[in-house]
Amino acid sequence: MSQITLPGLIDVHTHLRVPGGEHKEDFYTGTAAALAGGITMILGMPNTSPPLTTPEVMQAVLARAQKDVLCDVGLFAGASPDYIAQLVQLAPFAAALKIYLNDTFGPLRVEDVPTLRACFQNWPADKLIAMHAEKQSVAVGIGLAAVYGRAVHFCHISRREEIELIADAKMHGLPVTCEVTPHHLFMNEADYRRMGALADMRPVLGTPDDVAALWEHLTETIDCIATDHAPHTLAEKQSPKPPPGVAGLETSLPLMITAVAQNRLTLDRLIQLMCDNPRRIYNLPPQPETWVEVEMTPTTIRSETMFSKCGWTPFHGWEVAGRISRVTLRGQVVYEAGKILAAAGNGRVLGMSD
Ligand code: DOR
Ligand code: ZN
Ligand code: ZN
Repeated sequence: MSQITLPGLIDVHTHLRVPGGEHKEDFYTGTAAALAGGITMILGMPNTSPPLTTPEVMQAVLARAQKDVLCDVGLFAGASPDYIAQLVQLAPFAAALKIYLNDTFGPLRVEDVPTLRACFQNWPADKLIAMHAEKQSVAVGIGLAAVYGRAVHFCHISRREEIELIADAKMHGLPVTCEVTPHHLFMNEADYRRMGALADMRPVLGTPDDVAALWEHLTETIDCIATDHAPHTLAEKQSPKPPPGVAGLETSLPLMITAVAQNRLTLDRLIQLMCDNPRRIYNLPPQPETWVEVEMTPTTIRSETMFSKCGWTPFHGWEVAGRISRVTLRGQVVYEAGKILAAAGNGRVLGMSD
């Protein structure tokens, strides 16, 4: 049995559900799930209730995070036509700006050009703009990157047409980057037909050809693996109107390390996709003396051992090639042999002066 040591991984797409969704996840359980998954820094999404669209909400949520987090956390500000005038005041508290162009969980949406123009003109140049953009909305994002000459990061790209368009944009030298999720790499629409709501998320699972396109572009066009960890309770998923989204923090590295064991990507590429590129793209601080030890031994993913409050994963029962044995953050062992050893508040919160 061999052992691999990786740098602390970074997930630039996590839903931590604070405020308003604490029955699904909170800062403690979400960051515990991160550490159990070998992830030492995460960026939390703004589609909370209320959403992270004003400096007041943002400051209050950052203060709550500082009490509870086990790993390092930054938060996205959410773009909204209702609060667009306060965008500049919001920026100091945020790691980046998130613009939702397409329908998903929660009411945050931007569907008008004046709001898009205000975002691109007023959001500080040293902070990134990320987009939930599907199908032709990707072309909208690429157009804005070209017009304003500023970087755009595309979240959870899932279709052949989207990744090929981004490859074309990169070929033309446009400043665009993108992430894909493990669920879009390892599942397809047949899994949705089999599992229903438990395999429903936005973007929806792709066709086998979409999945093949993502794997083809993993060595070049794709910049990051991001989880889109989107926990909802089993009761919510089994309700008449199930919300979209699945957990991902604890299964991302086990799945990707399995792809390495199967020679579908190299370990060096995994480190670029899950650590180096996320840090560079989002301009995130270094984490000295931080690493993750992985035991390369066949392991079965189990819902019962999850730290995420939602307590279920669509990958339950899957066999993977390794398990996270120990995580060290800034010289301190924070996770070992299935146990969290860090104390609440141990993590650093980006955007808080300390
Ligand atoms: O499936 C999803 N769930 N996609 C998103 O974009 C949002 C997320 C959520 O917040 O539940
Ligand atoms: Zn999204
Ligand atoms: Zn998301």
